[in-house]
Parts: sequence; C-alpha cells; structure tokens
Amino acid sequence: MSHELRTPLNGILGFAQLLEMDESLNSQQQEFVQAILNGARHLLNLVNEMLDIARIETGEIQLAYDLIKLGSVIDESVKLIEPLAGKRNIKIVNQTQLDKYYVYTDSTRLRQILLNLLDNAVKYNRDNGTVTLTSRSEGGNICIHIKDSGIGIPKNEYENIFAPFYRIKGTKVDGTGMGLSLVKQLIQLMGGTIGVESEMGEGSDFWFSLPAVKEDCSGRMNLYQERLSQIGEKKILYIEDSVVHLKLMKKILEPFPNFLLISANFGKDGLKIIFREQWDLILVDTNLHDIGGYKVLEYLQEDGRTKQIPMIVFNAGTVSAEMEMLKIAKKGSKEYMAKPLEVGLFFRKLEQILTQK
Ligand SMILES: Nc1ncnc2c1ncn2[C@@H]1O[C@H](COP(=O)(O)OP(=O)(O)OP(=O)(O)O)[C@@H](O)[C@H]1O
Ligand SMILES: [Mg+2]
Repeated sequence: MSHELRTPLNGILGFAQLLEMDESLNSQQQEFVQAILNGARHLLNLVNEMLDIARIETGEIQLAYDLIKLGSVIDESVKLIEPLAGKRNIKIVNQTQLDKYYVYTDSTRLRQILLNLLDNAVKYNRDNGTVTLTSRSEGGNICIHIKDSGIGIPKNEYENIFAPFYRIKGTKVDGTGMGLSLVKQLIQLMGGTIGVESEMGEGSDFWFSLPAVKEDCSGRMNLYQERLSQIGEKKILYIEDSVVHLKLMKKILEPFPNFLLISANFGKDGLKIIFREQWDLILVDTNLHDIGGYKVLEYLQEDGRTKQIPMIVFNAGTVSAEMEMLKIAKKGSKEYMAKPLEVGLFFRKLEQILTQK
C-alpha cells in the first residue's frame, strides 16, 4: 500500500517542482503549479499519517527505543514551530525544567508528537496569543503540558478529537483531523497517556506523560558503571507489568553483561520463577495489576527460602505508597526507590547490595 500511494505522489511532486523552476511559465501557470504542489504535499502528509496509524494498528510499527533527553527534543520542536507562531505574533514560552530527565522512547516519534501538539496550539490560537509549555514529575512518569490561549474545546468533544479524521464542526483553519489520533496512538504505544482540559474562549491544555528516569545529580554515573561491571555474574529478577519500564531497565543494565536480567510480567509469574532458581537480587514494582507488589513482598518475607534475597521495591511516589513502604522497611532490610528512577542512586544501591556477602 505504502509504495502504491507514495510513488505516484512523489512523481507528481517531483515534476511539479521541475515545472516550478521553469522561467518561461507565465504568472497564471505559476499559480497552477503552486496549487499542484500544495495539494500534493498535503496528500503526501495525509498518506504518511494514515500509513503510520495503519502500522500501529497492525502492530507493524517498530519504535527505535533509546534513552532520550526530553528537554532537547522539546527545544528542537519549539524552534521548528516558532516561525509559524511568529507569523501571527504568538509567543511560545517554554517553562519546562527537564535538565535531569530522560525518557525511554523513539526520538523521531516523540518529535512528531510534540510538533503535532504545538502545531495545534498555534493553529487554534488567537493572534498575539501564547503557548506555554510546562513539565512535572508524577510517579514514574514525566508529564508535559502544552497550554494555548486559543478558542477552546467543548467538554463533549474531549474524546472525539482523538478519533481519525474528526474535526470539531465549524473549525475554520485547514487540517485533516489526523494529527491527534496519530499522537494518541503513538503515546499509548510508548506506554504513556494523553489528555486535555479546556475552557471555551480561554484556551486548551493538552498534556501527555511518559515513563522517565532521572540522572544522578552527583555526576558520578561513570564511576558506578566501572565498578558495577567488575562485580561478578549476578542474576536479577524484575517483576514489572509495564513493558516500557521493563525495556527501560534492560537499557539501564545494558552496559553490564555480567548482570543477567530476567523479567516477569505478573506478580504470580514472578512468585513462580523466584522459587525455581537462585537470585542475587529481586526488583519489584508496587503497582502490579494482578496481586500487587506489596503482596509479592509479603510472600517473600514470610518464606524462609526467599527471606534473605535482597530486594529493591519501586513505588510511584504517592503518600499511601510511602506508608506501605515504611511498614515493609520495618519488617526486613528491603530497599525502596521512588520512580522516576534516579539512575545514579540505583547504581549505588546495586553496588551496595551485590557486593554484600
Ligand atoms: N489546541 C486546540 N484548540 C482548539 N481546538 C483544537 C486544538 N487541537 C485540536 N483541536 C480540535 O481538534 C480537531 C482535531 O485535531 P487534529 O490535530 O487531530 O486535526 P487537525 O488539526 O484538524 O488536522 P491535522 O491532521 O493537520 O493535525 C481539530 O480539527 C480542532 O477542531
Ligand atoms: Mg492538528
């Protein structure tokens, strides 16, 4: 499909561009050529977005996951949108504070998400308006808000606008209604969520959150990396039901071939695997959907075979989670860490635990 649609379109674009360069064309012919070019570019965009959505739906799309400095991708995207905003004297104010945050995702796709949201924030804004970007950390995620001072969206349209080809009735500016549906699908694929809050006549606030990690402020990551790679072979079990967080952990431990990381997607699976083998360390998330991380912990504390295995528990940083953690800490010598994970601190704990006799 992709080939069949793109090849003729690229042909049209290519020949129209050749015509555009022909100086013998009169002004009316030039105008027609511009119309062909605009139409073809618009169609190519649409085709690309439709193909992307089709690929996500059939599970064909492959994301190139990597640890990415979220702040840099936001800066780049803002720069790309600024000329468009400038035309209508719309100010883009970037108040995000993301120096130490990394997300584990595909940078090209992340840029696509940001560009779509920023494009909307400008397109549906008023002249001389503003677009404000802010960030906040929330559990294991980092949440980005893109707030405009535009026309607003009625509450009963909050869900509809994420459907393919849907445009709010009476929307005057050009568009195909594909942007937000692609954005939503991509974010879900990345293990994140997206939403909107809006006030008619005042503006809209689109936000999305993605799993994140935090850099150690001491800047001593390299030191830990060296020391960790010198610890002998260790077997680590990670019980976690978020695929993206699992991938993230794999990425974090990638520099250490001496660590064998095995994962379990459910608490129950985790419990089965634990009793099958000897482990040097167990990592467990408190937010498991089947039996819950705390239950897993309780089982392990109560069983003589597993009581001694070191464990790091990850929690989402809520108050109730903190209370639970204190209870657990009293029971045994288990460690716990809040998400977003501070990688440097995590390495330090790994070193402490794995070098204990
Ligand atoms: N920031 C916003 N403020 C007000 N309305 C918005 C905003 N963003 C989106 N909308 C509404 O939601 C609809 C869908 O947005 P979406 O980005 O999917 O498509 P589009 O902007 O119309 O076209 P394109 O595919 O070029 O992005 C828009 O047509 C518009 O009615
Ligand atoms: Mg759009």
